Amino acid sequence: MLGPMPVDPDSVSAVSDGLRAAGYLPGSSTALVSYLATKLGKPILVEGPAGVGKTELAKALSRYLDRKLVRLQCYEGLDEAKALYEWNYRKQLLRIQAEAEGTGWQAVQDDIFGEEFLLARPLMSAIAAEEPVVLLIDEIDKTDQEFEAMLLELLSDFQISIPELGVIEARTQPVVLLTSNNTRELTEALKRRCLYLWLDYPELEHELEIVRMHTPELGEEISRKLVQVIHQVRELDLKKPPSIAESIDWARSLILLGADDIDQQTFRDTMSIIVKHRTDLDIVAERVGVKLGDPVAADGAQRPA
Ligand SMILES: Nc1ncnc2c1ncn2[C@@H]1O[C@H](COP(=O)(O)OP(=O)(O)O)[C@@H](O)[C@H]1O
Ligand SMILES: [Mg+2]
Repeated sequence: MLGPMPVDPDSVSAVSDGLRAAGYLPGSSTALVSYLATKLGKPILVEGPAGVGKTELAKALSRYLDRKLVRLQCYEGLDEAKALYEWNYRKQLLRIQAEAEGTGWQAVQDDIFGEEFLLARPLMSAIAAEEPVVLLIDEIDKTDQEFEAMLLELLSDFQISIPELGVIEARTQPVVLLTSNNTRELTEALKRRCLYLWLDYPELEHELEIVRMHTPELGEEISRKLVQVIHQVRELDLKKPPSIAESIDWARSLILLGADDIDQQTFRDTMSIIVKHRTDLDIVAERVGVKLGDPVAADGAQRPA
């Protein structure tokens, strides 16, 4: 029996529409780069501040392309055993113990280094999958350069060599997304292999559309005010400006609290949802509170009538 037809986009606008239908509102370069990546078979390196939709893009692509998502979350000290494969020692040991006396070591060894004793980790799973997947290598900047080098090999040849077993070739080619929060400069070699997508905080209207998509219950008017305030806050010199993630959290909170406007009081009560550093809170309380134009001054003192 034939399975479902794989989704193979034939234009940038098809990708744009597909991502929207999958719950992601792409900017124009996002749709363009995603389209090229599926056509050229090249990985996308997505860089940008936290909370601007890098991880979500991979998830949305997997929904749109109707491919399974295989995710490798990077962290400091991540090694090949956790990313590629490792030998299943426990099973190997059991196998050795179960071996009848007198079997030659060579025979046992040939056996226990077979594919059956291999534990596939995300990178291997992604290229060994029967159906092509979307592979998300999330926050690659958290690993070190050795790891990047190993990855390069995989991304250019789509194969993995295992000393005891030989070369494992890719069965299917994944759509690959690497994300980086830009905490360190990635190597030129890696960048050269990838298409590059810089995601930044969106324009006001674009962000409003995103917020409205996630929280349609929040009124049009108050949603617009929310996004305007967020944009004001981003202009301040903060340690951590609020991202789209914070805008959405804020919108959800306002719904729960039954707010129908963002006045001074509401803002004060809820601003810790969008700003999360002590010093940032002080700056925002002082600078944005005033602009909301409430009769109560920023320092809390009543203005003379
Ligand atoms: N273009 C977009 N369309 C829809 N939702 C978005 C978009 N960009 C970001 N989001 C939402 O913002 C939140 C943060 O996105 P995420 O992908 O986790 O950020 P990052 O990986 O860049 O830190 C998620 O809830 C995501 O759904
Ligand atoms: Mg992320």
